[in-house]
Amino acid sequence: MIEGKETKTKKGVLRFGMVGGASGSFIADVHRKAALFDGQAELAAGCFSSKFERTLETGAKLGLDQERLYRDHNEMAQKEAAREDGIDFAIIATPNYAHYPAAKAFLENGIHVVCDKPLTLKVEEAEELVRLAEEKGLLFCVTYAYSQYPAVKQAQMMVKNGDIGEIQVVVAEYPQGWLATPVEQEGNKQAAWRTDPEKSGISNCVGDIGTHIENTVSYITGLEIDELCARLDIFGSNERKLDTNAHILVKYKNGAVGNYWCSQVAIGYDNGLTVRVFGTKGTIEWRQEDPNYLKVVKLGEPVQILSRGNPYFYPEAAQMSRIPSGHPEGYYEAFANTYLKFSNALLKLKQGLELTEEDRDFPDVKAGLQGVKFIHKCVESSKKGSIWVKFD
Ligand SMILES: NC(=O)c1ccc[n+]([C@@H]2O[C@H](COP(=O)([O-])OP(=O)(O)OC[C@H]3O[C@@H](n4cnc5c(N)ncnc54)[C@H](O)[C@@H]3O)[C@@H](O)[C@H]2O)c1
Repeated sequence: MIEGKETKTKKGVLRFGMVGGASGSFIADVHRKAALFDGQAELAAGCFSSKFERTLETGAKLGLDQERLYRDHNEMAQKEAAREDGIDFAIIATPNYAHYPAAKAFLENGIHVVCDKPLTLKVEEAEELVRLAEEKGLLFCVTYAYSQYPAVKQAQMMVKNGDIGEIQVVVAEYPQGWLATPVEQEGNKQAAWRTDPEKSGISNCVGDIGTHIENTVSYITGLEIDELCARLDIFGSNERKLDTNAHILVKYKNGAVGNYWCSQVAIGYDNGLTVRVFGTKGTIEWRQEDPNYLKVVKLGEPVQILSRGNPYFYPEAAQMSRIPSGHPEGYYEAFANTYLKFSNALLKLKQGLELTEEDRDFPDVKAGLQGVKFIHKCVESSKKGSIWVKFD
């Protein structure tokens, strides 16, 4: 039987505010749509830009009350915390440098947080956010949304259930080609801040997309990095100060080994995140650009292509689908799954109920910290001449 998934009709169960997301920005609009996708939340406040006129403009377009448009994250955190109908959670979708101060302000004012990656510029900042969220008992999601595709969950369940045996080798890549030329000098705003160390942090490519590899591999396999050896290179412009290509070798704590490649100068590639996991009994391969399918090869058997929406998916993965197989689900749905899990957990928390491990199956602040550590270890290894460095 084929059933559509009902969207809740009761609007406004949770209220959220946004930092970042003025007209013309990229990911904030995906956040907004994803947070609203299943009808469990509504936008109530915003500080969409560091320029107040732009916040006012965007707020008006989005139909917000002017009194809930703020000059900065501090004003928003304090004033929203003081309101009876204040926001339940804040979404932070600014360039990297503004994540930490905004996240800290919301946590300190008792507001739950959803923040984009990389979580912070410094490891100590990420550690502080972990501590603050724990101390205050607040939920904190970091939107590594690739982990929320049903086929990725299926891959995770297959690894957990031993379907491909013990993992020995992981090969993952995330090639893009959009920084093959210095587009940051031609008015591309997203490229401008990403290539600026003040706004991006100590890495561009590893921070921007290498962290997605790290998180997706870690989510699927559960493997913990023991040591890594990285080479970061700057291509695409002599004036750039940050990496646009990286090769990273990994040794995991269980003895398995991995090999990651991320690039923004790989002409012909858009968002080619691909993860291959090789075990003693079989192989799994998932490609973000064809996300409804999972390639599985069991030792001595023919290649299988598992298709999302079919009953042979594990229930935990099947329940993350909204429509029958063959009608493609994609990026918005994966992002929406992140928000659905986060919102359901938050609703449960607000009712005073205990959260189970299943309730917490969204990328959290510890995953964010892990990503920041990964960036710093890759840069450290590369700077020291691509030597092996211990992860912990
Ligand atoms: N999870 C993902 O898959 C994913 C995808 C893309 C981007 N990202 C992350 O999302 C973040 C934003 O990236 P983007 O490409 O959307 O950037 P963008 O440049 O398109 O948008 C950034 C927005 O933040 C606003 N802004 C800047 N400083 C601000 C401040 N101090 N206060 C309030 N608003 C401020 C800008 O006006 C703009 O609206 C980055 O951290 C990036 O790494 C994550």
